[in-house]
Amino acid sequence: MCGIVGYIGTRQVVDILLNGLEQLEYRGYDSAGVAVMGENKINIYKAEGKLENLSSELLIHKDEYKNSTLGIGHIRWATHGAPNVINAHPHTCNCGRLVIVHNGIIENYKELKAELEKKGAKFRSQTDTEAVAHLIAYIYNDTKDLTEAVRLATKKIEGAYALCVMHSDKKDELVATKRNAPLLVGVGDDEYFVASDVPAIIPYTKRAMYLNDNQIVTLTRNDMTLIDAEGKELPKKVETLPWEPVALSKMGYKHFMLKEIHEQPDVIRNVLVGKLHSAQTPIKLDEVKLNKDTLKNLNRIQIIACGTSLHAAMIGKYIIEDFCGISVDIEASSEYIYRKTVTDEHTLVIGVSQSGETADTLTAIKQAKAKGSHVLIITNRPDSAMAREADSLIPVNAGIEVSVAATKSYIAQLVSFYLLAIYMAEIKNTMSSKALYEIKSEMMLVPQKIEQILSHKETIKQCAQHYANTKDFIYVARGINYPTALEGALKLKEISYINATGYPAGELKHGPIAMLDESMPVLSILMKGSVYEKLLSNSEEAKARNARMIALTNSKDEKLKDLFEYIIEVPDIQELLSPLIAMIPLQLIAYYIAEYLGKDVDQPRNLAKSVTVE
Ligand code: F6R
Repeated sequence: MCGIVGYIGTRQVVDILLNGLEQLEYRGYDSAGVAVMGENKINIYKAEGKLENLSSELLIHKDEYKNSTLGIGHIRWATHGAPNVINAHPHTCNCGRLVIVHNGIIENYKELKAELEKKGAKFRSQTDTEAVAHLIAYIYNDTKDLTEAVRLATKKIEGAYALCVMHSDKKDELVATKRNAPLLVGVGDDEYFVASDVPAIIPYTKRAMYLNDNQIVTLTRNDMTLIDAEGKELPKKVETLPWEPVALSKMGYKHFMLKEIHEQPDVIRNVLVGKLHSAQTPIKLDEVKLNKDTLKNLNRIQIIACGTSLHAAMIGKYIIEDFCGISVDIEASSEYIYRKTVTDEHTLVIGVSQSGETADTLTAIKQAKAKGSHVLIITNRPDSAMAREADSLIPVNAGIEVSVAATKSYIAQLVSFYLLAIYMAEIKNTMSSKALYEIKSEMMLVPQKIEQILSHKETIKQCAQHYANTKDFIYVARGINYPTALEGALKLKEISYINATGYPAGELKHGPIAMLDESMPVLSILMKGSVYEKLLSNSEEAKARNARMIALTNSKDEKLKDLFEYIIEVPDIQELLSPLIAMIPLQLIAYYIAEYLGKDVDQPRNLAKSVTVE
């Protein structure tokens, strides 16, 4: 959350900063701002809301910065202080000569603020960041050395940060540092780029250096110096990034979310390539670095994740327990990290994350590693902080997901769990060859089945529009699709702001049924299998309370027509694979409701794609 960029070189800085921020807008869009070196002072431009507002503001001032070649920029996801211009970064010291941008949270900012106010600092914003600007400025006034001022300031700061700092005295200098927040430096010819993430620098250079925690980098137009927290100079590890610039295009779709939903059949094919060759051959998963004997004896797994990735993890638990007979605990990372967890070197800990940067999950896997567990990461970003911590790494290869609401990365995570569960079952010999054959052959057909659903999306759109004006929405399921109900509800909540909840259908009668009346839509994820009849009875109970019943089903049962006012049919599939199919109409329902209501589908309010604060 929040993205920072910086540039020092010979090109016009504002375009580079704006292009970089555009690539980082997935990290927040509450406000944006840039600071650029002018002849006599640093000029700052800020705007509330999306980056386009800053771009318009900058157009008005273009003569002021046209020769400027040094600057920093920020895109904000508000943590401390409302999302307005005053709280927008960059922030400055009293005199405006020292300017910073920050991603993270300064935990001791109140103490720092009190101390700095006594010294005469005048705070203008409600942000935690401003304390850091004043702090560095006070130290700089004594040292006149910007790097040293940043280094000494970081000794006093508690919390997480990626910082980029400039000073009007230093027309050829940019300083950056980080702790528990991502930051890298792009290396060009007589130019350097600073950014929270690769896409901001990749159009300009593929050569980059990732900063480690507490390292401080000083950039001039033709040199880069790296030091540690004690001021000792360090060797610089510049690597070539395995990235190509990607033009992020909607390819004719109205929103990235709709495009990403449509990409899912190919995403699945991509995940399967090289791993699932045929229904007769064993799964190949060289990414798992645990040796086969350890895997054979493994009897405990913990999976940690947040949000949509947590729902993928819940299905992961279901299939690993079913296929392999290994006991699996799952937990939201934010809960895991603040209790005494029973984790040891005999536990396999799996972290699941689209971004690979989610702060809670990152902390959780570091804790597990410290206790000696083997850490396996399933992520869409093989270059992320989590990937760098992994003992085993399964990249899900879904491609860049722009829409804040996760769709294709979820499906890719699910497929990775199926591959992992089958791989372990084959090693542990816990599934019959018939069951293995059937599941593998049917997995290969999933992309086609999803294509079938997508070709009928107009009927799903009609259904979505029929219920679009509801205030609440309930999703029910049992067994392996209970997490599908949770994920369906999450998708609807996050992009339409409708109060949606997923329940295990058997729990309805223990309380939630009290909410049912003729205004409440209840969607039953009624896939054929072990819990079909039970869920049908639960749906009858809801219907008896006059709820507006919708079925998502692969059953052709005629009697469903009496029970449900809408029936969304999906292709037939065995129960254990059904979450891969059932999720697609739910993504489409959420999408079409939000679109019908005129919501900002790709950038819903208050959210960010990468949650790098705890
Ligand atoms: C929902 C969504 C979030 C993320 C969550 C974890 O559509 O995108 O709930 O799933 O913030 O993010 P990652 O997977 O990047 O760790």
